[in-house]
Amino acid sequence: MSLKEQINTSKIPQHVAIIMDGNGRWAKSQGMMRAFGHENGTKSVKTVIETSVKLGIGYLTLYAFSTENWKRPKLEVNALMRLLVKSLRSELPLFHSKKVRLNIIGDINSLPDKAKRELESAIEETKDYNEMVLTLALSYGAREELVNTFQEIADKVKNNLISPHLITEQVIKEHLYTKSMPDVDLLIRTSGEQRISNFLLWQIAYAELFFSPVLWPDFTAEHLYEAILNYQQRERRFGKTSEQLT
Ligand code: IPE
Ligand code: IPE
Ligand code: MG
Repeated sequence: MSLKEQINTSKIPQHVAIIMDGNGRWAKSQGMMRAFGHENGTKSVKTVIETSVKLGIGYLTLYAFSTENWKRPKLEVNALMRLLVKSLRSELPLFHSKKVRLNIIGDINSLPDKAKRELESAIEETKDYNEMVLTLALSYGAREELVNTFQEIADKVKNNLISPHLITEQVIKEHLYTKSMPDVDLLIRTSGEQRISNFLLWQIAYAELFFSPVLWPDFTAEHLYEAILNYQQRERRFGKTSEQLT
C-alpha cells in the first residue's frame, strides 16, 4: 500500500503548521546562492498547499519569514520579499481553483508596501473561500504576537472594558493573530533542526511535533503523507491516562 492509501481519512489533523527550513543549505549543496534555495522552496509550498487541500486539512500555516529573519543580509531579505510578491501572483489562480482562503499573521506593517498591497488584495479576493485556510506567517514572531496581545488587553483594562480577574485563556486566545483558528495539531519542521524558532508558542501547547531531515526544497507530497501517518500513530492524551481515552 502506498503511504497515501495508509492515511486514515477520518483522523486528518485539522491544523498543520510547518517551519519550512533548509533552503540555504539546499542551495549551498548545489554551489548556488541562498536565493536559489528560496526560489526552489516555492515549489514545495505549492505542492504542500495542493496536497493539504486534497487531504482535507482545514488550516495550513506556513512559517515564511520570522521577526528574527530581518537580521539576515539585506540582499537575502530583499530577494525573499520580491519572491513573496512573485509567488503570490503566480499562486493566486491556485487559491481560486482550490477555494483556498489566504490569511496572514505577523507584524504586517513591517513588510514593504508592495508586498503588503499584494497580500491585502489576495486576502480580499479569497475571503469567501472555505476549502482551506492558508496562513502565511510573515515577519512573525510568537513573542511579538504575545506582546501585541498583552498591549491590546492592557488597553481594554485601562478603558474598563475588561477587569483583570476576567482575563482567561479564552480572552488571551481571542487577542492572538490566530484568534479565528484552532490550536495546531501537527507541527512539522524540515531540515533536521529540532527547535521552534519563535513560532506559535501559545498555539502549539499540545501539538504533535514531527521533525523531518529533508531540506525544504526537497519536501514532497510523500513527505507530508509520512508526517501525517506518523501523527496518526500517536496517542494524544491531553493530560489524561490512556485508559480514560477509550
Ligand atoms: C528557510 O530556509 C527559509 C527562511 C527562513 C526564510 P533557510 O534560509 O533558513 O535555510 P537554512 O536553514 O539556512 O538552510
Ligand atoms: C525559522 O527558520 C523561520 C522560518 C522558517 C521562516 P530559521 O532558519 O530562521 O531558524 P533558526 O535561525 O535556524 O532557528
Ligand atoms: Mg534555517
